[in-house]
Amino acid sequence: MILNQLLKRRLRMWRRAPAYFVGKFHDRVFGVDESWLSKPREAFPVGSWQWLALTETTYGGFNIGVASKANRGGDRMSPFFHRYGVIYEEFLESLLPRREQSLTLVEVGILNGSGLAIWCDLFPNARVIGFDIDLRNFAANRAELEAAGAFSANRPELYEFDQLDLGRSALILKNVLGGTKVDVAIDDGCHSIESIKTTFENFMPHMAERFVYFIEDNFDTYDVLAPVNRHLRWFQRGEMTVSTRPFRP
Ligand SMILES: C[S@@+](CC[C@H](N)C(=O)[O-])C[C@H]1O[C@@H](n2cnc3c(N)ncnc32)[C@H](O)[C@@H]1O
Repeated sequence: MILNQLLKRRLRMWRRAPAYFVGKFHDRVFGVDESWLSKPREAFPVGSWQWLALTETTYGGFNIGVASKANRGGDRMSPFFHRYGVIYEEFLESLLPRREQSLTLVEVGILNGSGLAIWCDLFPNARVIGFDIDLRNFAANRAELEAAGAFSANRPELYEFDQLDLGRSALILKNVLGGTKVDVAIDDGCHSIESIKTTFENFMPHMAERFVYFIEDNFDTYDVLAPVNRHLRWFQRGEMTVSTRPFRP
């Protein structure tokens, strides 16, 4: 029974993103081309997966020891691990012509801050806001990030925030955002389906007319959120679910 459900879930996932899984399969069978690793990020277009992965490596990647193995962080963009770089490239592409403008990007779950460092480089004039239940990992790692060049172009705002506390986090969001609308939201926090639903519900009133909302590390997100939010567009790429209202060119 459980095996049957798991198999059906897997089939749904493959059907929703065949090209993504063909790419993944190809890399698994033939290995990942590693030539990009020896190049500087400037060799690649800003926002490409290579640029994102090399920027993540600059700001720690797997090299930074963090408090919890479960919350490892820094493993998102590279094709060797989560392989989210290709997904961020795909869905942020339409925003890149506006990358010098004043967008608002929010990341829930910041851990050691390598994600915030990437976003600040990618969107130098954006309001970049990080929320986390525990800001101590970031505080402990900030000097190391800055020594590697992070936050020279843009500095993030940071707030303590528990995704699972709907009432309190709604109030925090209202106070922090005021009237500011969010163009890009990233949920890389607790990853439970409950926290994902609560966070999505909380953020929706604050999303811009056109937005992209990334939800990492949960295979069930699409099946839970897409059917009850049909007015939005939904995409699943394995453990990553993306919701959008497309940007105007
Ligand atoms: C995978 S890490 C985030 C990694 C980060 N985005 C990066 O740059 O790679 C998950 C983070 O979620 C935070 N977190 C866990 N439960 C949370 C909750 N209920 N509310 C807010 N943040 C939470 C953890 O403290 C941890 O820093």
